[in-house]
Amino acid sequence: MKAKAAVLFEVGQRLEIHEVEVGAPQPGEVLIRMAAAGICHTDLHVMTGHAKAPLPAVLGHEGAGVVADIGAAVTTVTPGDHVIPLWRLSCGVCEYCSDGRPALCAEGMQVRATGCLLDGTTRLTLRGGAIKHFCGVSSFAEYAVVPERAVLRIPDDLPLDRAALLGCAVVSGVGAVVNAARVRPGSSVAVFGTGGVGLNVVQGAALAGAGMIVAVDRVPQKLEWARRFGATHAVDARHGDPVAEIRALTGGRGVNYAFEVIGEPAVMRQAYDVLAKRGVCVVLGVTPPTAEVSVPALSLVFEERVLTGSIYGAGAPRVEIPKLIQLYRAGKLLLDELLTRRYPFARINEAYAALERGEVARSVVTF
Ligand code: CU
Repeated sequence: MKAKAAVLFEVGQRLEIHEVEVGAPQPGEVLIRMAAAGICHTDLHVMTGHAKAPLPAVLGHEGAGVVADIGAAVTTVTPGDHVIPLWRLSCGVCEYCSDGRPALCAEGMQVRATGCLLDGTTRLTLRGGAIKHFCGVSSFAEYAVVPERAVLRIPDDLPLDRAALLGCAVVSGVGAVVNAARVRPGSSVAVFGTGGVGLNVVQGAALAGAGMIVAVDRVPQKLEWARRFGATHAVDARHGDPVAEIRALTGGRGVNYAFEVIGEPAVMRQAYDVLAKRGVCVVLGVTPPTAEVSVPALSLVFEERVLTGSIYGAGAPRVEIPKLIQLYRAGKLLLDELLTRRYPFARINEAYAALERGEVARSVVTF
């Protein structure tokens, strides 16, 4: 079938909307009619070359839609079901999947690295040439073919534009707090970078009962949003030294947990430098592959500090996302406030320009 899709042909270019041919779902695959797709920095990283992905590709890894068709042997969803695609395919049986960490499964890495589905082919073509999938999702298209194991059914009454955000920004941010850092009630937290994912780290910390939540950003509007999401303090990184400021806020001792949600080694170092003894620094930001971060080795021993990372919420999205839906329904998780702008799909490049200018918390394109 034909579908409008946003294709990235080369690094440094804008997305181009083309009518691509979407193949029929093969055994174990699901055809989703996208309703909304999230405008995330990860796709921008691919456009700018900050992160690598096989091209040409239909980008987009955050979305929500309705099942339009299913391939043979699909048992967990049927046409008409509302679903979220999960951007890390998982096999379900390897040691990481069995241990509740499907984002570390080798199958997902293979799909991400090759831009193909598991059989090594793609369901997307343009004028006879193969177009790659992105993260096995490619949500910047009216229709997407996704492996069943990367499809999560959600309740029909959840608004799809907000549901889309659950599949990346929300689960990644809240999960890093709850699963990677295991923030404890009353503790102190610093969040470096309060964009779409960072705001969810802030609200995750609030949900976990943190006593002090310091938001750090260079965009005043984002610091304002952070306060709305539960930050108790805001540090404008354009002025002064955020490390010294946060140390001063904590009476010199530092914070129990710090999160880097940007992808800059220098900021990762700042996040590490604001830790108290036994403090935990969690990196969510994605750097180019060759980037390195260094920390004073002695602080690992004499202060028992921890430097670690978190991918896709450091848990099982199939378990976490239904919990997040419950929290949203209970009024405890801000989703409506997170979705600050909607664009028609045809204006997707405008949506990315606004993201680059720091104007949005999270935006979606709708179909
Ligand atoms: Cu994302």
